[in-house]
Formats: sequence, C-alpha cells, structure tokens
Amino acid sequence: MTAMDVIVSLCKRRGFIFQSSEIYGGTGSCWDYGPLGVELRNNIKHVWWRDFVQQRADMVGLDASILMHPTVWKASGHVDHFTDPMVDCRECKRRFRADQIDDRPWTHYCEATKGNKFIIPAGEACKHCGARRALCPECGKGELTAPRQFNLMFKTFMGPVEEDASVTYLRPETAQGIFVNFDNVLQSMRRKLPFGIAQIGKAFRNEITPGNFIFRSREFEQMEIEFFVNPHEQLDGRAADEAWHDRWIADCQAWFSRYGLDPAHVKLHEHARDELAHYSKRTVDLLYEFPMGWSELMGIANRTDFDLKQHAKFSGKSLTWFDEERKEHVVPFVIEPSAGVDRALLAFLLDAYREEEVRGDKRVLLRFHPELAPVKIAVLPLLKKRTEIVATGQDLRTRLARRWVTIYDDTAAIGRLYRRQDEVGTPYCVTVDVKTVGDAEKGEAGDQRVTIRERDSMEQIRVPMADLENVFGRLLQEGGAWRDVAAAYPPAGELSV
Ligand code: GAP
Repeated sequence: MTAMDVIVSLCKRRGFIFQSSEIYGGTGSCWDYGPLGVELRNNIKHVWWRDFVQQRADMVGLDASILMHPTVWKASGHVDHFTDPMVDCRECKRRFRADQIDDRPWTHYCEATKGNKFIIPAGEACKHCGARRALCPECGKGELTAPRQFNLMFKTFMGPVEEDASVTYLRPETAQGIFVNFDNVLQSMRRKLPFGIAQIGKAFRNEITPGNFIFRSREFEQMEIEFFVNPHEQLDGRAADEAWHDRWIADCQAWFSRYGLDPAHVKLHEHARDELAHYSKRTVDLLYEFPMGWSELMGIANRTDFDLKQHAKFSGKSLTWFDEERKEHVVPFVIEPSAGVDRALLAFLLDAYREEEVRGDKRVLLRFHPELAPVKIAVLPLLKKRTEIVATGQDLRTRLARRWVTIYDDTAAIGRLYRRQDEVGTPYCVTVDVKTVGDAEKGEAGDQRVTIRERDSMEQIRVPMADLENVFGRLLQEGGAWRDVAAAYPPAGELSV
C-alpha cells in the first residue's frame, strides 16, 4: 500500500472521510467528512480564523454568498481565462488535461513483442520498440483530439427559467466575494490601509483530472485573505506591497509548522514568469511533500490592483481608499494568502501518521497537535461490569465535555481502547479503575483519582478527579507541556500501554 492508500483506508475505517454518495457508486471527486473528519476540519478552520483574524488588529472577517452576480466573473477574468486545455480519446472517450498528459504512465501495445500490453512509466519510451506515447495513455488505442479550452466554472441558473439571461456560476474561489465587498467593509469598519479581509468558504471547480483523494476535488473549501496595501508607501526600505508579501509568506510557513507540519516537508516555490496567473505580479507557493510528490499546499500572490480596478470598471463604482495625508485616492495592491482547507487537512493527516512497535505489537498513531485533534479526551472504564466505575466514567465525560470534545468508550479491553484512541490522534485518555471508586461491599473507599495517559509518550500519571479541569486547562488551553504538568503528579501503576 502507498502512504496515500494507508491514509485513505484509515480515514474511511475511523470515520474521517467517506466517498460522497458511496451507496450509489460514488460521485467523482466529492468527499464527505465523517464524525471525526468534521471535528478535524472545524479545528483547522477555527485556529486559522483565531490566529489570522481575531488575534490581529489589522484583519476582519467576511462570509459572502456562493452565488454572485454573473458580471463578477466577467470582471475577474474567470469567464475568459479560467480554463484548462483538454483532449478527448476518440476510442474510450476519456478526457485529459493536455498539459498533464505526459505526467502519467501510459498503456502501450508493442508491435515488437507481438502486440503485448505494457504500462510504461510517465515520460519514458518503450524499451522494446523505442516508441513514445502518441495515443490515449489510458486505453492505448484511441487517437486524441486537438486541445480545446475548457472552462472550469460550474454553470447554474438563477430563478425558475433556464435561459441564457439567468446563467450564473458556483464561485471557483472565495476571493471575489471579498473584492466586491471592499468598500462596504472599508466604510462600515472605518479601516485604514494596510488591512485585510478573510473568508472561509466553499469553492467549486469542474476539474478535468481531479484525484489524489481530497487533494484535488470538485467541491472544496478555501481559507483566503485579501490584504490591502498602499503601494505608494515604503516598508522595510521597499515598496509596501513587496515587503508585506514576504511577511505573509513567512507567517503562513510558520503557521503550518506551529500546528505540526515538519518544516522539512514544506518548501517554497517561486512562480516563473510564464506560470503567473493573469492578475499576479509575483506568486510563491508553499509546497508540501505529498505521497505523489511535492505539490501545492497554498499560494501567496501579489494580485496588484488588478481585481479592484476590474470591478470598478465593470460596476462603475469607485473602489479606492482616500489617503488623508497625501490627499489622494489610492487603489490598494492586494496580497493574497490562499489556502485549501482540504489540502491542509490532508497534509496534517499525512504528517501526523506514525507506525511504531510497542512490546512486539504494531501501534498506529496520529500525532496531531492537541488543538487539531478531533477528540481531546477519551474516558475509559477499566471494568465495564462494575456499575460504579461506569457511572463515574460517564459523569466525568459529561463534566469534561462542557469544555472539550470528550468521548466515553467501554466496548473493548483497555489496551485495545488505547490503540483505538492513538489511531485517531486523541491526546489524552482518562481511565477509571477499582482504586478510583473503591468497593462499598467490602467497606473500601476509593481514592477518587484517575489515570491520565498521554498519547505520544504513553506515560501515565495518577490525578485527583477534582483536578482534571485544571490539568486539561493547562494542557489543552494554555499550551502547557506534558512534562511540566505531569511532574506535579505521581506516575500511575501501569494499566496497559
Ligand atoms: N484565490 C486564489 C486561488 O484560488 P488557487 O491556487 O487556484 O488560488 C488556492 O487556489 C488554494 O485552494 C490552493 O493552494 C489549494 O490549497 C486550494 N485548491 C485549489 N483547487 C483545489 C481543488 N480542486 N481541490 C482542493 N483544493 C484546491
């Protein structure tokens, strides 16, 4: 199994991600987030919003509608430029992106070996006859059509009549919702440059060759910032837009490593001139080392004043900021850090995945940053036949669930329960045992202490139940290190690892 297959299988087995409409055979490249997937996804969005919007004085948020006025897409250039060149196989009718066709292995029926079928690695020639791919890479038989431009936007109709006048599109990026609201935000929030507007929301692209699980899908979610800068100002001895661009690149890189991506798995890619989008002066991508190779995790573009000027031209409304000092109207330049929620989630999953050997057994774990972990605490009873243990465990779950996502599980023996939680990345397990509750029939009082086990080290400490909110507050909310918090409590007699 490839690293991607391992993650796809874990995601399905443990309720992170399912194929959309699976019982009907699935929908191409659409995915449903299951009970644990939705928590992980919400946590990523929550920390991104908190770190980049709520904690910064120069940022505000927005939630624009998905369906927008069709002229938005004319002004933005999407109607004319948001296209990929595609070719079709005349035989099997499969469709490919013309610019990616030689990046895939190809099927070849080799005449030098009596027509035997070979699958030849991408870009290579046949070892037997020296031929290079000329036909359909999939069926190996059909001629390909000449490339045609294919617009990636999903068309739909607004209102009850399906006619040309009512055509609109599902947004292919959230950015345009921000540009068209630039003046509304400026006026209502009394902002000065530089400031940014952030938005998290769904985007839709009719990708010709989606794939690699949730990496490239047709419905996905973006976390975008449009940061408006006065290009006439200087910052760090340079044009302000250029200096802000570098600051945002550094901030985004630091953000991904803060939440667990190994910096060795992330690198920058500077777009060459011929790679730049029509609106961009400079674009730098953060690439992550995905199993299929280094690929775009997010992009940070300098979109200049292109979008505001286009929308001003098409709408007839002025989209400027008045510089009181210089007494002039300025069309801001825009720095755009744009990340995909689904790609971030895939990278966090891949980077967190570990297989270890513990006492001769395989242990699979997801070493999620505690803030990203879907479940923070699992309460586990050592013996489910003892009603006091079960009742205490369930009470604890109710108590802790007021502040953190906490589950109760008594469906297996303790060693198995620990493994299950490791595999979904739960940072802490709390175990209730006989010593906790005592034995009323024998007149033995319980010590009212429980065992806390930490996922990565598997260390266990014994903690009074009354202290749990304090301990988890320090670990999960105040960023306390396990080593420091655990030092105040005695180690537990090991139940199991
Ligand atoms: N507003 C700029 C913009 O949309 P982009 O590079 O096309 O730029 C930004 O997209 C990010 O959105 C990408 O870096 C990626 O994380 C995510 N993204 C784009 N297309 C995607 C797709 N088909 N499936 C999943 N994520 C996608």
